[in-house]
Amino acid sequence: MQIKPTGPLKGEITVPGDKSISHRSIMFGAISEGTTEVTNFLQGADCLSTISCFQRLGVSIENTPDKILVHGKGMRGLTAPVQTLDAGNSGTTTRLISGILAGQPFTTTLTGDASIQKRPMKRIMEPLSLMGADIVSEKNNGCAPLRITGGKLAGIRYTSPVASAQVKSAILLAGLYAEGKTQVIEPALSRNHTELMLKGFGATVTSEQNTASILPCEQLYGQKVAVPGDISSAAYFLAAGLLIPGSELLIKNVGINPTRDGILKVIRAMGGNLTILNERTSAGEPVADLLVSHSSLHAATIEGDIIPSLIDEIPIIAVLAAFAQGVTIIRDAAELKVKESDRIQTVTAGLSAMGCDITPQPDGMIITGGRQLHGAVIDSFADHRIAMSFAVAACAAQGETTIQGGECVNISYPGFYADLAGLSH
Ligand code: S3P
Repeated sequence: MQIKPTGPLKGEITVPGDKSISHRSIMFGAISEGTTEVTNFLQGADCLSTISCFQRLGVSIENTPDKILVHGKGMRGLTAPVQTLDAGNSGTTTRLISGILAGQPFTTTLTGDASIQKRPMKRIMEPLSLMGADIVSEKNNGCAPLRITGGKLAGIRYTSPVASAQVKSAILLAGLYAEGKTQVIEPALSRNHTELMLKGFGATVTSEQNTASILPCEQLYGQKVAVPGDISSAAYFLAAGLLIPGSELLIKNVGINPTRDGILKVIRAMGGNLTILNERTSAGEPVADLLVSHSSLHAATIEGDIIPSLIDEIPIIAVLAAFAQGVTIIRDAAELKVKESDRIQTVTAGLSAMGCDITPQPDGMIITGGRQLHGAVIDSFADHRIAMSFAVAACAAQGETTIQGGECVNISYPGFYADLAGLSH
């Protein structure tokens, strides 16, 4: 993908549905009684992997142009798959479905692409095994392919070493099938879509600070889910509007759940012009329209409990930091190393190639901003968030940029390049 610097970006944009919420709508619909109707579902490769996994578990799912219909099988209606389940590139599919499979009285094999086969699964294998599931890493390396034999589970009180919504959600989903209460205590609060949505489907879920609890459940009930726009996708347009002189963008219908809105706080801390308009609720989630305009940014320190609320936005925050005056420090973010790529390394490689002063750290990075970035050849490392972050950097840089493997944006935002180009006047 070739990207040239652009003039001012102007106008309105509606980004696709939230990836985390889209995954969950299929999963929870599949184990509910009745039909779940999902609108604004994200038609990205990751969420399509979730659909295909549940189809292989015997669930009928209709993907029509305006909505998805999930014909739920109830809590105990999934059937043993004939084939291996393929989660593609999706960590959310792999980890959350493992929690559901832990409660099923059959054996499933679950795998994914080369990236998924390198991502750590011990973090779910350990708690789900403690609950009574039998989970084997087939290559004995703590990664997929996983062979999961579910069955009788017991509730646990689990203190997670990482703030991860995927780990928390896997345990809570297994907790639906367990005897007694299940609790997950996190070092910092991660996104809470599972807690909010499962409650909407009829589960007994409570949250207090960093602890989420769930009771076993006999039945969930299909719902209508209107998926809000994905703040992680909106982040690229927020950044483009802030960085490109003369720009003003209105990004409509964006989910602003407080466990996801760290990027908005960082933009404000960096001096960005951001207005939150028309706040409302959709599918039990807070939603708003976001207005940004070109701003002179200054550096910020990003650390501590805010990290889980912006973990997927760190690559684009690093791009903002490259254009901001002063030294931005990002720390407490070692989780970046185990995303779709090692994002400490891949952000450092890309920004260095464009002429930015960036030093990787074991748990983050230090960026001295303010140098004019130049176009470069950027390896996306097949990581959608790296490709989109550097597409935005390229729009604000001097000279042309090539993003290698840029088609990986299909994972979370198939129309990304067209939408970006459509705002340029
Ligand atoms: C997600 C949780 C996050 C995030 C991922 C989606 C989810 O991962 O990075 O893109 O939908 O639960 P972790 O839970 O591993 O932090």
